[in-house]
Amino acid sequence: MPRDTQPLFVQKHLLILGCGYLGQYVAREALWRGMRVTALTRNETHAVALRAQGLGVIVADLASEDWHALAPREVDYVLNCVSSGAASAAARAALSPASASEDKLAARRRSYVDGMRSLTRWLRDAERVGTIVYTSSTSVYPQGGGAVVDEDSPTVPPDTNTRAGILTAAEQRLQRDCPPAPKRWFILRLAGLYGPGRSHLLDQVLKNAPSLGPVSQRLNLVHVEDAAAAIWAAFAAPATFANRVYNVADDAPAPKCEVLTWLAEQVGPISPDSAKTATVSAAQRSSRQVLDRIISNVRLKREIGWQPRYPDYRAGYAKMLSH
Ligand SMILES: NC(=O)c1ccc[n+]([C@@H]2O[C@H](COP(=O)([O-])OP(=O)(O)OC[C@H]3O[C@@H](n4cnc5c(N)ncnc54)[C@H](OP(=O)(O)O)[C@@H]3O)[C@@H](O)[C@H]2O)c1
Repeated sequence: MPRDTQPLFVQKHLLILGCGYLGQYVAREALWRGMRVTALTRNETHAVALRAQGLGVIVADLASEDWHALAPREVDYVLNCVSSGAASAAARAALSPASASEDKLAARRRSYVDGMRSLTRWLRDAERVGTIVYTSSTSVYPQGGGAVVDEDSPTVPPDTNTRAGILTAAEQRLQRDCPPAPKRWFILRLAGLYGPGRSHLLDQVLKNAPSLGPVSQRLNLVHVEDAAAAIWAAFAAPATFANRVYNVADDAPAPKCEVLTWLAEQVGPISPDSAKTATVSAAQRSSRQVLDRIISNVRLKREIGWQPRYPDYRAGYAKMLSH
């Protein structure tokens, strides 16, 4: 693949905190853009793979301060995209869970809230850091009932005992504790991420066992390529844009039954009816609330010029299914 010709990023240094699905996607694009990339991971095996791809690697828990002395003193861009989805054995051992759900909440608090505390402390002492992007989630919004949700819509209050409240707490910590200009932050609230190697809906259809809540609620999705493009748009945003919150979702939230039916038609021979039936019964079992709303991406487009390459699920999945 030829090198990127956009000079803005060439030879700039990017620090990625939490190099999972999205982090690795951005890391690959950063190398292609001719950047230096340092990644932080807790996972030794993961570290070996990242080094082989040409990244500098720090093995540490973001929530600790162990990495502060190991991080570069000067970086142009920081991406905090940790997620507590896959806690390492070492991280789990550091917890003292009262129950499985407490364990998950504790892991989440550690990655998001304690991680953000550690990041803002490091930012205070770092010599030169430019733009910080934090990938939050649209699950900070409590609205359902078909509401249109933009960045001014109320969010759940910070609460380190709930999944969504933990995300709000992490956002607020960045907003409150990030040092002033020339440092600047952007919070990107991502909708459900999908793309090559990450497609829960398609996997469910292929197994003929769709699940995940009621079928009539709209799904707000974003393809990983478009999520990465939003990160690059924030890094490249003119200096007049600083300390902003943006939703990152595609243009066309669609009812879940529509998405599952369409996917079932594409992959056949699973009948669309069986997808619907399986989903309804799974919905009855589901304990997790799924909210019907339309996440607005207008501000992201208007202010920093982001446009989704995959404006709806059909475009995103069609590309994946063609490979
Ligand atoms: N996936 C979605 O649908 C979705 C939706 C909305 C928002 N988001 C946001 O998008 C971002 C990226 O999501 P993703 O799906 O790419 O996540 P992911 O694949 O689960 O990757 C997250 C990475 O963070 C690392 N990590 C977690 N806690 C850490 C810690 N304390 N210290 C160091 N590393 C840590 C994990 O590494 P280990 O191997 O060490 O565990 C993992 O590699 C997250 O911020 C998430 O909140 C995702």
